[in-house]
Amino acid sequence: MLVLGIESSCDETAAAIVNEKKEILGECLWTQIEDHKVFGGVVPEIAAREHLEHIDEIIEHTLKKANVKAEDIDAFAASSGPGLIGGVVIGVMATKAMALALNKPFIAVNHLEGHALAPRLTGDVKYPYLLLLVSGGHCQILIVRGVGDFERLGTTIDDAAGEAFDKVSKMLNLGYPGGPIIEKMAELGDEIRFVLPRPLTNSGDCNLSFSGLKTAVRKIIESYAVDGNIEHVNLDKKDTADICASFQLAVADCLIHKLEKAIKIFKQECPEGKDIVVSGGVAANSYLRKKMAALAEKEGLIFSAPPIRFCTDNGVMIAWAGLERFQKGYTNELDFKPRPRWPLDENAPKAAGAGGVKA
Ligand code: KG4
Ligand code: ZN
Repeated sequence: MLVLGIESSCDETAAAIVNEKKEILGECLWTQIEDHKVFGGVVPEIAAREHLEHIDEIIEHTLKKANVKAEDIDAFAASSGPGLIGGVVIGVMATKAMALALNKPFIAVNHLEGHALAPRLTGDVKYPYLLLLVSGGHCQILIVRGVGDFERLGTTIDDAAGEAFDKVSKMLNLGYPGGPIIEKMAELGDEIRFVLPRPLTNSGDCNLSFSGLKTAVRKIIESYAVDGNIEHVNLDKKDTADICASFQLAVADCLIHKLEKAIKIFKQECPEGKDIVVSGGVAANSYLRKKMAALAEKEGLIFSAPPIRFCTDNGVMIAWAGLERFQKGYTNELDFKPRPRWPLDENAPKAAGAGGVKA
């Protein structure tokens, strides 16, 4: 069984072909990061134009790398939301066109389900499992019971974790995307030098909040302004590294604290569940991975995370989620409309960073 998957919901144009033996036959990824860097974040119009320009050659290259003819593909899957709608539409149209021309099924994949199921392709993760999904637009804790079967235990009520990394990096003039830069800087820093808040620690639920943390970092930076001018901040490399390390520790503390709560619920609801998993762009963070691995060991769970290149957006995760859907017989009609907002747990209340309010 061969499934071709396409990703174009943010700033990566990507395609991949996978089979049911978890083999990646071919993959191709074009990142637009350089185009967006100067703006400090993704510009939707530029992203859409870039996707349009590159999608055909990305698909062609992927087929070539896999040494597979388009007519040998059994189903075509596209990341169909949530995300930046211009890019999503381009990927969905290209995928539908192939499905139509070759008379093969079309599968609409929720981008978040791509992240959520990626650890099953790259490791031996079994349903049900506890998932921390942390990316540039999302931050959720979910029980994954099966394909399309999610229970959201917690979500950010404002910024996503990756968004907080990106914003702090921008405030420190370190560049975009912020996550990898802050992680690197933090390696040189003292994580207990600056005291930062741990929002929602006592909220009693598994929800998270990062906007207060970001504001607290801004106040620290402002306290270094020369003559009250925040354009001129007197921070040396050591100060900057210490801010990065203190911020990264605060984010990790918040996530681990809420995961401890979520593990209790997971163990009660799914006593047969053995796995705790992290995925999404922020899952590339090795500091967070180490903390989660230690937590899993303490709780008697197995920790896994996809290799770093499968944490950030890619075509492989969409092809794999498409294949899992196809195996279940879940295909979509060609009139499927892309969904800029598409929560994994449709029963959970709407929230930012959950695919429900913003992408
Ligand atoms: O999943 P992704 O590629 O795109 C979305 O669907 O959002 O995630 C991108 C996010 C960015 O905010 C980026 O700063 C963050 O993931 N990120 C990281 C790291 N690598 C990427 N955050 C923390 N540490 C990292 N090493
Ligand atoms: Zn993503």
